[in-house]
Amino acid sequence: MHTTIIYRSHLSDDVPVNILPGMVDKATRRNACHQVTGILLFNGTHFFQILEGPEEGVLDIYGRICADKRHHNVVELMRDYSPSRRFGNHGMELFDLREHDSGSVLQAVLDRGTSKYRLTYADRGLQFLRTFVEAREKENYFEVLPADYWEFIPADNETPATAPGVTFRPVVDPLGREVTALEAIPGEALEVLTDAQRYAHNLRAVTQALRKAGSSCPDGMTLYISILPMTLVSVDGAVDQIVHAIKEAELVPQQVILGVSETEVISQLDAFSASVRQLKQAGISLSIDNFGDGSAGLSLLAHVQPDRVRIGAGIIRDIHRSGPKQAVVQAVIRCCSALEINVIAAGIERPEEWMWLEAAGVIDFQGNLFTHEGSAVAWPETREAV
Ligand SMILES: Cc1cc2nc3c(=O)[nH]c(=O)nc-3n(C[C@H](O)[C@H](O)[C@H](O)COP(=O)(O)O)c2cc1C
Repeated sequence: MHTTIIYRSHLSDDVPVNILPGMVDKATRRNACHQVTGILLFNGTHFFQILEGPEEGVLDIYGRICADKRHHNVVELMRDYSPSRRFGNHGMELFDLREHDSGSVLQAVLDRGTSKYRLTYADRGLQFLRTFVEAREKENYFEVLPADYWEFIPADNETPATAPGVTFRPVVDPLGREVTALEAIPGEALEVLTDAQRYAHNLRAVTQALRKAGSSCPDGMTLYISILPMTLVSVDGAVDQIVHAIKEAELVPQQVILGVSETEVISQLDAFSASVRQLKQAGISLSIDNFGDGSAGLSLLAHVQPDRVRIGAGIIRDIHRSGPKQAVVQAVIRCCSALEINVIAAGIERPEEWMWLEAAGVIDFQGNLFTHEGSAVAWPETREAV
């Protein structure tokens, strides 16, 4: 079974193009030892490489390539299996697109193919190759700066919100240096036996957290709080109790966003939608959380039409390196933009994740990169400015 990895990357600024032939010679020898073949395309700025061969060898070489400082912004576009190689002749052939006429360059690349069957466009690997040769996806090549370009410095003039039994997790706009919402997280859930008990406990935790958070929440600040979706359906009068708690906390409903997790299976979608209507009539907004980590996905967006979507940490982790994750998140962002739904990206840990998402149009973020429990928000500063 052959493994294929396809990636694209960007030649580092300080690397002269004339080092490439020497690099290719060495790479060809190493690839031959691992029975890895493929093709390396270069357009003067970007590389595109297809690596094919036994899984172990392909992974070993790809690992070394990712660590190579002569290029950056390595984005894995495809990892797949196939019965045979597409480019079997060479350890690694460098193909400089600039040396070919634009009308015939694609054919010139395909002529290097060795597949027993004719190379066909139905093959995903070749679709990627064609897209690169024709430079059709360039608007999606976000140039992410190196992680150490930024330093994250806790603001010394801000004190984090506190309330007994509630943890606050801010939602931040890092470039605007603004906390745009506070998420209130109730204390530990009890070990309870039945679903009915679980939902009753969840409602109690949410209403208590609302009452406690109310006095700590600055005027006009949006307050975010997660709730189990089935709590809204299963507990009689759940929405009324939430509205009552908001009033007692001296908050206004328009200030409050209830987040339901996409990963919690919404088994009674119609009843859930009726609760959502009730929430919205009371002025409370709805967010679908952990978006992309569950299975309900885009159909839930169409059905429920929330005010916000919080993209989950699972799909965001290392997004700057993963073409498939980038494609999914870009589709969610486009879809939310068409529906005027605000997007929050949660669980940000690395500067590169944040930078990629900013480039894709996300403004609001949560995650350890910016906030730690009990500490002020750490805002990004460029190192030169520090
Ligand atoms: C765009 C690009 C493509 C590369 N392709 C290969 C390759 O196909 N095979 C290979 O062994 N090294 C390749 N290299 C070089 C590796 O990154 C690495 O320098 C080499 O494998 C030596 O690894 P080592 O320093 O861990 O010994 C490539 C480097 C770049 C910048």
